[in-house]
Amino acid sequence: MRVLVLGGGGREHALVWKLRQSPRVTDLFACPGNAGIAQMAETVQLSLDDPNALAQFAIENRIDLTFAGPEAPLVAGVGDMFGARLLHLFGPGKAQARLEGSKVYAKKLMRELGIPTAEFEVFADATKAIEYARAANRPLVVKADGLAAGKGVIVCDGPAEAEDAIRQIMVDQAFGAAGKEIVIEERLEGEEATLMFFLDGRTSAPMLPSQDHKRRDEGDAGPNTGGMGCYAPVPAVPEALVAEVQQGVVAPILEALDLRGIPYKGVLYVGLMLTREGYRVLEFNVRFGDPEAQTVLPLLESDLVDVATTVIDGGLYRLKPRWSSQKALTVVLASGGYPGSYETGKVIEGLEDAAKVPGVVVFHAGTAERDGQIVTAGGRVLNVTAVGETHAEAAKRAYEAVSKIHFEGMYYRRDIGWRVISKEQA
Ligand code: AMP
Ligand code: GLY
Repeated sequence: MRVLVLGGGGREHALVWKLRQSPRVTDLFACPGNAGIAQMAETVQLSLDDPNALAQFAIENRIDLTFAGPEAPLVAGVGDMFGARLLHLFGPGKAQARLEGSKVYAKKLMRELGIPTAEFEVFADATKAIEYARAANRPLVVKADGLAAGKGVIVCDGPAEAEDAIRQIMVDQAFGAAGKEIVIEERLEGEEATLMFFLDGRTSAPMLPSQDHKRRDEGDAGPNTGGMGCYAPVPAVPEALVAEVQQGVVAPILEALDLRGIPYKGVLYVGLMLTREGYRVLEFNVRFGDPEAQTVLPLLESDLVDVATTVIDGGLYRLKPRWSSQKALTVVLASGGYPGSYETGKVIEGLEDAAKVPGVVVFHAGTAERDGQIVTAGGRVLNVTAVGETHAEAAKRAYEAVSKIHFEGMYYRRDIGWRVISKEQA
């Protein structure tokens, strides 16, 4: 099979790495890829914003199966563009991708289907939104409706902060058209967890739960980032809760979209907050999480091509993905300054030694090749994943590998998995 992966971050490197293990894959392409992906796949430089050109490439290169890593091409309709040309793409169409592309749509659908989520109101008018925030007088979260590169959610302590957030999104248009409408919701308290599912239009199959560390600094402090590390599975999300979310969230979504003639096929990412009153859905994503994929895919025992083709054929009722009983943990190595501004082009050393540590695989995120050397090219540079019999063992291996890697300004958290490891040791 000739397989194409869209994207060029750590998630896509994990996809390419997993696909390389499939005996069904003969040729592997990635667009645009990165320095790590380039060691495993042929990289192609096309714009991910141009679904037409991507489909044309797939036709000309006789691609049998395409994986969409990031959300933007899916929200822009790459799924429909491929589908219309009878190309197999693993991922939902544009109408389904609104679950991620529009927070207003996702929240209204959750309300309609009785899915547990934070209480909310939708506003298209800044003055009304500000009045509401003042009257609410409690901690709120203000969310731009559309895609905002992960920055469109502002968690506020009080009405003054909420007012600032509303102005920033609606008046100053910090996220452009993505902020024409906003969702204002109650601020929830609790531990967050990620639960991803494979959906084949009618049936779903859960992946292992995972938890990423979104804050930059140790002890879960400092600014929000795209994720500084991750571990799986998550004891705070036992099998009974997975089943509850599958029944209470994924099943109604599957049914509702199927009835509307837009059956959902691909990955559905359910972002959960575990509150004292039970779970609440924070968000949906229509793709694998990043860095969750880098943590969870190494625990998938099934062939990813088998899973993807089964999803596309609507056959999940007969093939259930198999998971390892091991634990996995990912440490993100970032450029100094991230998530603020940072320098790039720093030479990365020690990658080969790191990969020799048992149970370790190093996924590239923001890397590039320059004059035969691998250099930094982004905020999150590398994802060091390790598997082990326990989370503590996975962490020990991952950090041993991290100790072998060096680039100027390298920053990482030393406490990834602290919650689960302290529980394990208790
Ligand atoms: P979202 O993209 O909607 O998941 O929001 C991004 C992040 O903002 C989440 O991972 C949470 O950390 C935080 N967040 C979102 N909604 C809420 C909420 N209702 N209460 C507290 N934190 C939230
Ligand atoms: N790790 C969060 C995301 O992929 O959206």
